[in-house]
Amino acid sequence: MIKTTNYMLAKRIIVRFAAACLFVCCFVFSGVQAYAQRDAVPTDEAIIAEGEKLFSEWACNTCHRVDQKLVGPALKGVYDRRSIDWIYQFVQNSQRLIASGDAQANAIYEEFGGLQMPSHDLTDDQVLSIMAYVRHTEENPPAAAAATDTAGDGTQVAAEGGIPSKYLNIIIGALIVVLVLILIVLGLIIGVLKKYLQDKADLDEEDQEVVNEKFDLMAFVKSPTVIGIITFLVIVLAAKNVIDGLYTVGVQQGYQPTQPIAFSHKIHAGQYEIDCQYCHTGVEIGKNANIPSVNICMNCHSAIKTDSPEIQKLYAAQESGEPIEWVRIHNLPDLAYFNHSQHVNVGGIACQTCHGEIQEMEVVKQHAPLTMGWCIDCHRNTSLNTKGNGYYDKLVELHNSNAATPMKVTDIGGLECAKCHY
Ligand code: HEC
Ligand code: HEC
Ligand code: HEC
Ligand code: HEC
Ligand code: HEC
Ligand code: HEC
Repeated sequence: MIKTTNYMLAKRIIVRFAAACLFVCCFVFSGVQAYAQRDAVPTDEAIIAEGEKLFSEWACNTCHRVDQKLVGPALKGVYDRRSIDWIYQFVQNSQRLIASGDAQANAIYEEFGGLQMPSHDLTDDQVLSIMAYVRHTEENPPAAAAATDTAGDGTQVAAEGGIPSKYLNIIIGALIVVLVLILIVLGLIIGVLKKYLQDKADLDEEDQEVVNEKFDLMAFVKSPTVIGIITFLVIVLAAKNVIDGLYTVGVQQGYQPTQPIAFSHKIHAGQYEIDCQYCHTGVEIGKNANIPSVNICMNCHSAIKTDSPEIQKLYAAQESGEPIEWVRIHNLPDLAYFNHSQHVNVGGIACQTCHGEIQEMEVVKQHAPLTMGWCIDCHRNTSLNTKGNGYYDKLVELHNSNAATPMKVTDIGGLECAKCHY
């Protein structure tokens, strides 16, 4: 006959086993690293500092983050996927390696839509020091987050989104699923054991009591294992938010300065439904959207709300002939070329796709990050608006005969450096 003590023992062993499983899972999830070539990457502080300097001097950070995909792949763990020698060759002249027929180089080149990474006149040691910086950043993520956000010349290169939240969410989700599965299995085993014991007639009273004991939810919730797991999850979530916050340091997205006149898009474009083009006269026809001159305001305000102090400022501006000094919100660096009519007129893209719900804003706010990664992402994912555009008919025909997916902006050269850079 089975003794109750044995039953209790079995129960305890199962619970221990479950807890052990959980901790093993945590370890596996947190430490999927340490492979072959990583150890060839130095960890000296001086070399790391040199690598960090080169990483921004050579503008690697325009296209790469350590932890997330941007224009190019996330660099973390690249020394786990490739040989060090391969990395030297790729960074120094990726095109040569691709042309040589190297399978890995061709695979990644294709994965990134045939975007050519520029050549870099760097020595092997310099590339290795960049890898040292990458490894250091990968292995000490929060401290490095702020540093990677600023380009060498002080211009801000914005990171989008922050740490790859989808991975963290997947990990947390997986942990919860594992936990639930373990609990179910546990319940089943205990149920079977219980049933077996209940069928035994020869249990004494004390044993009967233990076997028939009801499952106590409160006691379970208060058990150290459960509290431990919940605390762990809370800490992970909190850490994720802090890290996300660090990644957005210096991002211009959300910039919302106070303007010299309390002009409201909500009133004009929203409530009174004035067309954007009425004021931003350039969007359909030119590179710039244009900010309206006082004259355009005067079309209405010579008669509307004439005694409002805000409108008085318009009269003062008209009298003095000085333009109103609106604070510019969206501003690409000079090296980048962006054309409104290409996007609004030819591309058929709504203002709101890039600027957000302007007609609901009292004060305009920058909606998009305006980084190179942002431009490129959209070019990769957006199909061309070719309807009624004779210019595209031949191209579309050609494209459709070779490819199954619709023609994207990348197919007309939307990833070529010279299209966006003077
Ligand atoms: C203009 C954007 C751009 C710049 C600047 C850039 N890269 Fe790249 N990089 C890419 C792209 C895109 C790829 C993907 C392969 C391809 O399309 O050729 C890539 C791939 C790589 C790879 C291979 C990654 C892998 O998973 O195999 C490494 C390593 C790399 N880059 C390092 C660097 C370093 C170091 C610098 C600075 C010295 C740099 N890159 C500058 C765009 C860039
Ligand atoms: C009655 C004139 C008027 C209309 C209509 C109007 N705007 Fe504006 N817009 C302005 C003025 C004036 C400014 C500059 C002051 C400010 O930022 O609020 C401006 C600023 C902006 C800016 C920010 C420019 C910068 O500095 O980067 C955007 C973006 C913008 N408008 C988009 C729109 C869109 C989209 C619509 C249509 C839904 C629209 N506007 C309708 C007058 C107008
Ligand atoms: C097509 C007509 C029209 C144009 C053009 C126009 N406005 Fe207006 N504006 C209005 C109307 C209508 C109101 C709302 C009046 C009300 O609240 O009774 C208004 C309200 C305002 C107010 C709020 C005044 C207050 O004290 O409540 C300001 C400020 C203003 N406009 C500034 C401007 C500026 C600056 C421009 C030029 C960039 C401009 N408006 C162009 C029609 C126009
Ligand atoms: C594909 C994205 C995109 C679309 C669509 C778009 N814009 Fe813009 N807009 C930008 C970018 C990028 C800038 C910054 C340009 C720069 O600094 O050279 C900008 C700047 C502006 C400015 C600031 C002044 C200027 O001339 O640069 C205004 C005003 C503006 N947009 C209005 C509009 C309006 C109105 C529409 C719709 C009719 C529109 N935009 C559609 C991306 C877009
Ligand atoms: C919301 C999506 C979107 C965003 C964001 C966007 N673009 Fe585009 N872009 C397009 C589309 C669609 C076209 C194709 C228009 C056409 O049919 O010619 C295009 C075309 C272009 C072209 C012409 C390409 C060619 O081969 O003729 C340039 C240059 C360009 N974009 C620059 C930029 C820059 C710079 C940015 C970022 C500041 C940007 N775009 C952001 C959608 C976008
Ligand atoms: C679709 C448009 C687009 C294409 C294609 C594009 N860029 Fe950019 N690039 C931008 C924009 C916009 C910026 C400025 C945004 C920023 O500073 O984050 C930028 C910034 C840069 C910078 C950073 C300059 C600095 O001072 O921070 C470098 C370097 C660069 N691009 C190189 C390239 C190279 C090399 C290619 C070709 C592989 C390329 N870009 C293709 C839009 C583009």
